[in-house]
Amino acid sequence: MDDFPMSLPNQAPIPELYVSYESAQKLKAEAGNLVSHDLSPRQICDLELLMNGGFHPLKGFMGEEDYDSVVETMRLADGALWPMPITLDVSETFAEKVELGQDIALRDQEGVILATMTVTDKWSPDKAREAERVFGADDEAHPAVYYLHNTAGNVYLGGPVTGIQPPVHYDFRARRDTPNELRARFRKLGWRKVVAFQTRNPLHRAHQELTFRAARESQANLLIHPVVGMTKPGDVDHFTRVRCYEAVLDKYPGSTTTMSLLPLAMRMAGPREAVWHGLIRRNHGCTHFIVGRDHAGPGKNSQGEDFYGPYDAQDLFTKYQDEIGIEMVPFKHMVYVQERAQYEPADEIVDQDQVTILNISGTELRRRLQEGLEIPDWFSFPEVVAELRRTKPPRSKQGFTVFFTGFSGSGKSTIANALMVKLMEMGGRPVTLLDGDIVRKNLSSELGFSKEHRDLNIRRIGYVASEITKNGGIAICAPIAPYAATRRAVREDVEQYGAFVEVHVATSLEECERRDRKGLYKLAREGKIKEFTGISDPYDVPANPELSVDTEGQEVDNCAHQVVLKLESMGLIAG
Ligand code: PPS
Repeated sequence: MDDFPMSLPNQAPIPELYVSYESAQKLKAEAGNLVSHDLSPRQICDLELLMNGGFHPLKGFMGEEDYDSVVETMRLADGALWPMPITLDVSETFAEKVELGQDIALRDQEGVILATMTVTDKWSPDKAREAERVFGADDEAHPAVYYLHNTAGNVYLGGPVTGIQPPVHYDFRARRDTPNELRARFRKLGWRKVVAFQTRNPLHRAHQELTFRAARESQANLLIHPVVGMTKPGDVDHFTRVRCYEAVLDKYPGSTTTMSLLPLAMRMAGPREAVWHGLIRRNHGCTHFIVGRDHAGPGKNSQGEDFYGPYDAQDLFTKYQDEIGIEMVPFKHMVYVQERAQYEPADEIVDQDQVTILNISGTELRRRLQEGLEIPDWFSFPEVVAELRRTKPPRSKQGFTVFFTGFSGSGKSTIANALMVKLMEMGGRPVTLLDGDIVRKNLSSELGFSKEHRDLNIRRIGYVASEITKNGGIAICAPIAPYAATRRAVREDVEQYGAFVEVHVATSLEECERRDRKGLYKLAREGKIKEFTGISDPYDVPANPELSVDTEGQEVDNCAHQVVLKLESMGLIAG
């Protein structure tokens, strides 16, 4: 009986949370009357994997008891291993509308009802504790901690989910599989052992070598399983990556390797994330999982140090691998040996001193792409390089945003105007000025100067600037933008598409008040203008702007020239 495929645990179907087609039709009609929650992009990713069994054994968004237990012990309340909180965060206003025991409808961003949830739990989490315990530090340099404090709502709702339909995807439909679809494929192909490779980056020759070796050493077939849900801000977009993966797929020997896209929203939680990835791959029918150095690492913390040790993820995975039910294959660091014209694992090269070892780091690759420099054939496949160049032209041909911030009367608008003219003189890209006053007239005429209104104003500017940047133009913004968190949010919006150059116009408050060009400081001192920045309202001084200029004792032309020099040094304007 050993050969009967259904006897292999990785090939048997896994439970899903969907109801039958008929019940779904009925439920959908009824759910129209329920209080409904519009899911965020991250919640849509989580819901898809909850419903299709990717997050088995979870049956819905976590309740408080499971949440506490997962945060503290990496286990659900019933003891099952689960390292990541999967919670439905909502606003306080929404939470007030919901009673325990009530069913709510969960809708995608176009209003389509994907599921219903019976709310069994409602609580305000201790976000600082969640950050400390799950991500290792309450430090907003960690993208998931930043998300937790700045994007996630303050109340969590928990309860079982009834799946009506999967989220709709219009891209790469043939490449997307539920856990059961993958299990069925492995069953059909007779793949008893499958090693999964998790990735959020384009694959180059070294990856192709290491994945193929991992499969050969485990005598398994290979599943390239890239994340196309949400990855680290700043990553290459998934459309480009999937076109790259498709090119690399042709380089593996026929019928050894397949690819499937995973709609996961990553948290970059290093060791805990590795264990989570293992559980998810087990659910997708894999038997082996490649874990590398600094798996799902979030980058540096606010002190400039790594959040996790390079092998923490491998260590934690090893500790739990029996329980996860998937075997870890450590990722080998592959380097190119020029004399032998091949890739070899760095730790297996015995004649290190006699050979030339070549390697290009991620940072170096980005630099070469940004500057349009050569990327050698030994490093990557020509199809991959062509694809990357197509979506990421050199920086001097991409759009970018210059974001001035500083007190009223600091000289932001004057320098911004001078910069605009200088850039227009150079030509090549359209330039748009989003000056504080212009924006308040055209985009934000109904807004005042409360924190809420200022944030809204800056987010609107950020949205327009990111669209301009995406489309290859130059956006010059010149609002006060007093709040650091809002400036950071705008930076994130823009950096998806191009560079964000923050320029602090650091003219002192005393000097701005002395100049008092518009007579506003006088009125603010007299209490006739309320909430005036610097006088009766806060200003967070930028901690790490790309450039800081002081207008005291300096010509405007010189200040604008400093910005131009900065842009040149960043490769944004060709020399
Ligand atoms: S913010 O905070 O970024 O939304 O402000 P911004 O859109 O740049 O608008 C600032 C200009 O509005 C005038 N003004 C005030 N500034 C600060 N605080 C209060 N309460 C206020 N009321 C009116 C002021 O002239 C600012 O112009 P700039 O161009 O900065 O001198």
